[in-house]
Amino acid sequence: MSARGPLALAILISGRGSNMAAIAESCRRGGIAARVELVISDRREAPGIGAAEALGVPVTVIEAFAAGGRAAHEAALAAAIERSAAGLVLLAGFMRILSPQFVAHHRGRLLNIHPSLLPKHRGLDTHRRALAAGEREHGASVHFVTAELDGGPVILQGRLTVAPGESAASLAGRVLRLEHRIYPRAVGLIADGRLRLEQDAILLDGSPLGSPLIEEEAHGAERACG
Ligand code: GRF
Repeated sequence: MSARGPLALAILISGRGSNMAAIAESCRRGGIAARVELVISDRREAPGIGAAEALGVPVTVIEAFAAGGRAAHEAALAAAIERSAAGLVLLAGFMRILSPQFVAHHRGRLLNIHPSLLPKHRGLDTHRRALAAGEREHGASVHFVTAELDGGPVILQGRLTVAPGESAASLAGRVLRLEHRIYPRAVGLIADGRLRLEQDAILLDGSPLGSPLIEEEAHGAERACG
């Protein structure tokens, strides 16, 4: 925890919210020096809303349709984030593409988690596409968000070996369990003041991170490669 107290987080969701819950639980346990100040869902029916309520985390719904279109929606999101005084904004299964203006405004304090080893398999349906491509390794990536979709600097990747005959569903489950480890870990590094984005480079303990940190599925082992 820094002298300023725990880092305040705003988490944007559209669906299940399991990454949001993993982060909120890690905050509650004291695993990371952060607190979830606000969860925002852009879908009223998102199961993650109930999950946030069950965790005692403030949650609000801001729907694009109700806000009156994309620009008004983003303005409403930005205003809610501003009011929450969040120092870090986490996209966690948030299914809207944010405008370059929104992304630029939050640059360096906007993260996303993506279910592939970026830069491989940007976009949707990553597990099926990884299998179709015959990948031997797959996983998930936590990255800073830039205007390029799923293209920002990658902080940390959770990596697994694809099993023979593996289905997309089993891969999805294994990757999700990795996500629940790596997203809190990446947030923790930022909350501890150890990691930040400067220009286009990630700095870890003051030095450029040459390649993403890696967390292996098998033993929770992590290393910096490259
Ligand atoms: C995760 O697979 C994440 O990588 C992707 O959307 C999914 C969200 O799952 N961006 P959940 O809502 O956190 O359970």
